[in-house]
Amino acid sequence: MLNNQGFDLWADNYDASVGVSDEEGTYPFAGYKEVLNIIFNRVLTHPGKTVLDIGFGTATLTAKLYENGCTVYGQDFSRKMIELAQKKMPEAALFQGDFSQGLVSELTRNRYDSILATYSLHHLSDRQKVRFLNSLLPLLKEDGCIYIGDVAFRTRADLEACKAQAGAEWDDDEIYFVWDELKEHFPQMEFEPVSCCAGVLSVKNRTDR
Ligand SMILES: C[S@@+](CC[C@H](N)C(=O)[O-])C[C@H]1O[C@@H](n2cnc3c(N)ncnc32)[C@H](O)[C@@H]1O
Repeated sequence: MLNNQGFDLWADNYDASVGVSDEEGTYPFAGYKEVLNIIFNRVLTHPGKTVLDIGFGTATLTAKLYENGCTVYGQDFSRKMIELAQKKMPEAALFQGDFSQGLVSELTRNRYDSILATYSLHHLSDRQKVRFLNSLLPLLKEDGCIYIGDVAFRTRADLEACKAQAGAEWDDDEIYFVWDELKEHFPQMEFEPVSCCAGVLSVKNRTDR
Protein backbone atom coordinates (compact mmCIF):
# COMPACT_ATOMS: atom_id res chain seq x y z
CA MET A 1 0.00 0.00 0.00
CA LEU A 2 1.34 3.44 -0.89
CA ASN A 3 2.28 5.73 1.98
CA ASN A 4 2.36 9.53 1.72
CA GLN A 5 5.82 9.46 0.07
CA GLY A 6 4.55 6.97 -2.51
CA PHE A 7 1.76 9.41 -3.39
CA ASP A 8 4.31 12.27 -3.50
CA LEU A 9 6.16 10.32 -6.20
CA TRP A 10 2.95 9.49 -8.09
CA ALA A 11 1.68 13.10 -7.98
CA ASP A 12 3.31 14.41 -11.19
CA ASN A 13 2.06 11.66 -13.52
CA TYR A 14 -1.09 10.71 -11.59
CA ASP A 15 -3.52 12.34 -14.04
CA ALA A 16 -1.88 10.68 -17.07
CA SER A 17 -1.75 7.20 -15.56
CA VAL A 18 -5.39 7.37 -14.44
CA GLY A 19 -6.44 8.60 -17.89
CA VAL A 20 -4.93 5.60 -19.69
CA SER A 21 -6.80 3.04 -17.57
CA ASP A 22 -10.06 5.03 -17.86
CA GLU A 23 -9.85 5.31 -21.64
CA GLU A 24 -9.03 1.62 -22.03
CA GLY A 25 -12.05 0.82 -19.87
CA THR A 26 -9.96 -1.40 -17.63
CA TYR A 27 -9.63 -1.93 -13.89
CA PRO A 28 -8.87 0.05 -11.78
CA PHE A 29 -9.86 3.38 -13.38
CA ALA A 30 -12.56 2.39 -15.89
CA GLY A 31 -15.33 4.95 -15.40
CA TYR A 32 -13.13 7.40 -13.48
CA LYS A 33 -14.19 10.53 -15.41
CA GLU A 34 -17.85 9.53 -15.33
CA VAL A 35 -17.63 8.98 -11.55
CA LEU A 36 -16.15 12.46 -11.07
CA ASN A 37 -18.71 13.95 -13.43
CA ILE A 38 -21.65 12.45 -11.53
CA ILE A 39 -20.34 13.82 -8.22
CA PHE A 40 -19.55 17.21 -9.81
CA ASN A 41 -23.17 17.54 -10.98
CA ARG A 42 -24.66 16.37 -7.68
CA VAL A 43 -22.56 18.85 -5.71
CA LEU A 44 -23.35 21.76 -8.00
CA THR A 45 -27.09 21.10 -8.06
CA HIS A 46 -27.16 21.23 -4.26
CA PRO A 47 -28.09 24.72 -3.05
CA GLY A 48 -25.19 24.85 -0.56
CA LYS A 49 -21.64 25.00 -1.87
CA THR A 50 -19.38 24.21 1.10
CA VAL A 51 -17.37 21.15 0.15
CA LEU A 52 -14.88 18.91 1.95
CA ASP A 53 -12.69 16.67 -0.25
CA ILE A 54 -10.89 13.82 1.49
CA GLY A 55 -7.84 12.60 -0.39
CA PHE A 56 -8.21 15.29 -3.08
CA GLY A 57 -4.95 14.36 -4.86
CA THR A 58 -4.26 16.63 -7.82
CA ALA A 59 -7.72 18.20 -7.32
CA THR A 60 -9.10 17.05 -10.67
CA LEU A 61 -12.62 17.21 -9.27
CA THR A 62 -12.31 19.81 -6.52
CA ALA A 63 -10.63 22.40 -8.72
CA LYS A 64 -13.64 22.28 -11.05
CA LEU A 65 -15.97 22.77 -8.09
CA TYR A 66 -13.76 25.62 -6.86
CA GLU A 67 -13.93 27.28 -10.30
CA ASN A 68 -17.72 26.97 -10.09
CA GLY A 69 -17.98 28.88 -6.83
CA CYS A 70 -17.64 26.19 -4.16
CA THR A 71 -15.83 26.92 -0.91
CA VAL A 72 -13.33 24.08 -0.72
CA TYR A 73 -11.81 22.36 2.31
CA GLY A 74 -9.65 19.28 2.05
CA GLN A 75 -7.34 16.79 3.68
CA ASP A 76 -4.61 14.71 2.07
CA PHE A 77 -1.42 13.25 3.51
CA SER A 78 0.80 13.87 0.46
CA ARG A 79 2.68 17.14 0.66
CA LYS A 80 3.21 17.08 -3.12
CA MET A 81 -0.49 16.55 -3.88
CA ILE A 82 -1.32 19.46 -1.55
CA GLU A 83 1.17 21.70 -3.38
CA LEU A 84 -0.35 20.83 -6.77
CA ALA A 85 -3.91 21.27 -5.50
CA GLN A 86 -3.20 24.54 -3.71
CA LYS A 87 -1.81 26.03 -6.94
CA LYS A 88 -5.12 25.25 -8.66
CA MET A 89 -7.20 26.49 -5.69
CA PRO A 90 -5.31 29.31 -3.93
CA GLU A 91 -8.16 30.11 -1.52
CA ALA A 92 -8.96 26.52 -0.55
CA ALA A 93 -8.30 25.41 3.03
CA LEU A 94 -6.14 22.32 2.51
CA PHE A 95 -4.65 20.37 5.40
CA GLN A 96 -2.06 17.63 5.60
CA GLY A 97 -3.23 14.66 7.64
CA ASP A 98 -3.67 10.90 7.55
CA PHE A 99 -7.39 10.12 7.37
CA SER A 100 -6.84 6.68 8.91
CA GLN A 101 -6.42 8.78 12.08
CA GLY A 102 -9.55 10.80 11.31
CA LEU A 103 -9.88 14.39 10.18
CA VAL A 104 -7.54 17.10 11.37
CA SER A 105 -9.17 19.20 14.07
CA GLU A 106 -9.44 22.31 11.83
CA LEU A 107 -11.85 20.39 9.57
CA THR A 108 -14.07 19.04 12.33
CA ARG A 109 -15.09 22.60 13.31
CA ASN A 110 -17.04 23.19 10.07
CA ARG A 111 -20.24 21.80 8.60
CA TYR A 112 -20.39 20.81 4.94
CA ASP A 113 -23.04 20.56 2.24
CA SER A 114 -21.06 17.88 0.43
CA ILE A 115 -18.24 15.64 1.59
CA LEU A 116 -16.37 13.86 -1.21
CA ALA A 117 -13.87 11.09 -1.35
CA THR A 118 -12.84 9.84 -4.77
CA TYR A 119 -10.44 6.92 -5.12
CA SER A 120 -9.05 7.50 -1.64
CA LEU A 121 -10.96 5.59 1.04
CA HIS A 122 -10.09 2.15 -0.37
CA HIS A 123 -6.95 2.55 1.74
CA LEU A 124 -9.09 1.98 4.84
CA SER A 125 -10.20 -1.44 6.08
CA ASP A 126 -13.97 -2.00 6.04
CA ARG A 127 -14.09 -1.48 9.80
CA GLN A 128 -12.14 1.79 9.46
CA LYS A 129 -14.48 2.89 6.65
CA VAL A 130 -17.51 2.44 8.88
CA ARG A 131 -15.87 4.31 11.76
CA PHE A 132 -14.67 7.12 9.51
CA LEU A 133 -18.01 7.55 7.70
CA ASN A 134 -19.78 7.63 11.06
CA SER A 135 -17.42 10.41 12.14
CA LEU A 136 -18.24 12.39 8.96
CA LEU A 137 -22.04 12.21 9.16
CA PRO A 138 -22.34 14.74 12.03
CA LEU A 139 -20.26 17.18 9.96
CA LEU A 140 -22.92 17.34 7.24
CA LYS A 141 -25.38 20.19 7.16
CA GLU A 142 -29.00 19.14 7.54
CA ASP A 143 -29.54 18.20 3.90
CA GLY A 144 -25.89 17.39 3.18
CA CYS A 145 -24.53 14.25 1.57
CA ILE A 146 -21.31 12.20 1.47
CA TYR A 147 -20.28 11.07 -2.04
CA ILE A 148 -17.76 8.29 -2.48
CA GLY A 149 -16.54 7.61 -6.00
CA ASP A 150 -14.25 4.64 -6.20
CA VAL A 151 -13.63 1.10 -7.28
CA ALA A 152 -16.86 -0.26 -5.85
CA PHE A 153 -19.25 -3.16 -6.30
CA ARG A 154 -22.85 -3.95 -5.50
CA THR A 155 -21.98 -7.39 -4.09
CA ARG A 156 -18.95 -9.44 -3.07
CA ALA A 157 -19.69 -11.74 -6.04
CA ASP A 158 -19.34 -8.74 -8.41
CA LEU A 159 -16.00 -7.88 -6.81
CA GLU A 160 -14.77 -11.47 -7.20
CA ALA A 161 -15.79 -11.47 -10.87
CA CYS A 162 -13.81 -8.26 -11.48
CA LYS A 163 -10.84 -9.67 -9.58
CA ALA A 164 -10.83 -12.81 -11.75
CA GLN A 165 -10.98 -10.65 -14.88
CA ALA A 166 -8.18 -8.33 -13.70
CA GLY A 167 -5.84 -11.23 -12.91
CA ALA A 168 -2.33 -10.03 -12.03
CA GLU A 169 -3.43 -6.38 -12.28
CA TRP A 170 -5.62 -6.73 -9.17
CA ASP A 171 -4.25 -4.79 -6.21
CA ASP A 172 -4.60 -6.89 -3.08
CA ASP A 173 -3.53 -3.94 -0.89
CA GLU A 174 -6.67 -1.98 -1.70
CA ILE A 175 -9.93 -2.70 0.09
CA TYR A 176 -12.82 -1.89 -2.20
CA PHE A 177 -16.34 -0.86 -1.31
CA VAL A 178 -19.05 -3.53 -1.40
CA TRP A 179 -22.39 -1.75 -1.18
CA ASP A 180 -24.58 -4.54 0.18
CA GLU A 181 -22.14 -5.12 3.05
CA LEU A 182 -21.78 -1.44 3.99
CA LYS A 183 -25.51 -0.94 3.73
CA GLU A 184 -25.88 -2.95 6.93
CA HIS A 185 -24.18 -0.03 8.69
CA PHE A 186 -25.66 2.77 6.56
CA PRO A 187 -29.17 1.79 5.47
CA GLN A 188 -29.54 5.11 3.63
CA MET A 189 -26.45 4.41 1.47
CA GLU A 190 -27.18 4.36 -2.26
CA PHE A 191 -25.06 2.83 -5.03
CA GLU A 192 -24.86 3.86 -8.65
CA PRO A 193 -22.72 1.53 -10.77
CA VAL A 194 -20.69 3.35 -13.44
CA SER A 195 -18.37 0.78 -15.06
CA CYS A 196 -17.17 -2.80 -14.61
CA CYS A 197 -15.32 -1.70 -11.48
CA ALA A 198 -16.46 1.78 -10.45
CA GLY A 199 -19.46 3.31 -8.80
CA VAL A 200 -20.75 6.21 -6.76
CA LEU A 201 -21.94 5.62 -3.20
CA SER A 202 -23.92 8.34 -1.51
CA VAL A 203 -24.84 8.66 2.14
CA LYS A 204 -27.27 11.36 3.13
CA ASN A 205 -27.35 12.97 6.50
CA ARG A 206 -29.27 10.73 8.92
CA THR A 207 -31.81 13.49 9.56
CA ASP A 208 -32.90 13.12 5.93
CA ARG A 209 -34.12 9.55 6.35
C1 LIG B 1 -5.70 7.69 -5.99
S1 LIG B 1 -5.52 9.30 -5.33
C2 LIG B 1 -7.13 10.02 -5.66
C3 LIG B 1 -7.06 11.49 -5.84
C4 LIG B 1 -8.35 12.20 -6.25
N1 LIG B 1 -9.34 12.17 -5.20
C5 LIG B 1 -8.92 11.63 -7.53
O1 LIG B 1 -10.08 11.21 -7.54
O2 LIG B 1 -8.21 11.62 -8.54
C6 LIG B 1 -5.61 9.03 -3.59
C7 LIG B 1 -5.31 10.28 -2.78
O3 LIG B 1 -5.60 9.98 -1.40
C8 LIG B 1 -4.50 10.38 -0.61
N2 LIG B 1 -4.43 9.43 0.52
C9 LIG B 1 -4.30 8.09 0.47
N3 LIG B 1 -4.28 7.57 1.70
C10 LIG B 1 -4.41 8.62 2.55
C11 LIG B 1 -4.48 8.74 3.96
N4 LIG B 1 -4.39 7.67 4.75
N5 LIG B 1 -4.65 9.97 4.50
C12 LIG B 1 -4.74 11.09 3.69
N6 LIG B 1 -4.66 11.04 2.36
C13 LIG B 1 -4.52 9.82 1.80
C14 LIG B 1 -3.26 10.29 -1.52
O4 LIG B 1 -2.22 11.14 -1.10
C15 LIG B 1 -3.85 10.72 -2.85
O5 LIG B 1 -3.79 12.11 -3.04
